Amino acid sequence: MRDIFPATVAVAVAGSDDWLGALLPAEQACLGERAVETRRRDFAAGRSCARRAMTDLGLPPTAVPAAPDRSPVWPAGVVGTITHTTGYCAAAAAHTTDVRSVGMDAEQHHEINPGVRRMVLLPEEEALCAGLPGDTSWPVVVFSAKETVYKVWYPVVGTWLGFFDAHLDIDPDAGTFTARIAPARLDEASVEDPPATVTGRFVVADGLVRTAAVLPRR
Ligand SMILES: CC(C)(COP(=O)(O)OP(=O)(O)OC[C@H]1O[C@@H](n2cnc3c(N)ncnc32)[C@H](O)[C@@H]1OP(=O)(O)O)[C@@H](O)C(=O)NCCC(=O)NCCS
Repeated sequence: MRDIFPATVAVAVAGSDDWLGALLPAEQACLGERAVETRRRDFAAGRSCARRAMTDLGLPPTAVPAAPDRSPVWPAGVVGTITHTTGYCAAAAAHTTDVRSVGMDAEQHHEINPGVRRMVLLPEEEALCAGLPGDTSWPVVVFSAKETVYKVWYPVVGTWLGFFDAHLDIDPDAGTFTARIAPARLDEASVEDPPATVTGRFVVADGLVRTAAVLPRR
């Protein structure tokens, strides 16, 4: 993930120790005692990476609990994001003095079944993917980019964004994407200056699709 974030964002990718990392009490309380082992490992790796990213920013390794809606609760003055998929986990963090919001997502690089595609891709995005080059599964890139867009949007606006509420464009040569948010979602937002567009980067490598986006400070 380091390769697709600007230098103002600190990124930590999980190594073997992170999956076994200890949770701080406030984090353990969110996970609960009955979480299955895979969930515990994913959650622990995310929190361990989050603390390493904060350390890289020169901050103390503070707990990152989860809100009731599952979004991570970063300490004051910090924005951040967490992702995990089979065998991979990463967290990124930045000072609010540098960026307004960050998001990232990692997905396995394989075909998406037609039913899921219909729920995620707009007809224009299906047409876009059909015209893009190479052996990349472009619908996965669209799916991952949209999850990243949601992780950027939600901490700022606090409202739901469905898969059809962002219209995605991809530049395959530049490795970038741009999401235009549906005007209706912008109109109903109660924050000042909700982001009308979110731009980000993507990489397809090592069996994974990784996407990342940063919302600049206003
Ligand atoms: C929240 C969501 C984006 C997570 O993506 P995912 O691929 O399922 O899972 P990932 O491993 O990449 O990310 C999970 C992490 O996202 C973070 N997260 C959860 N809810 C979040 C939210 N509302 N805002 C920001 N981050 C959130 C958490 O840190 C979570 O990890 P944790 O539970 O261990 O703390 C997804 O489950 C979801 O609800 N998607 C529907 C909304 C959407 O994507 N709309 C598209 C708009 S264009």
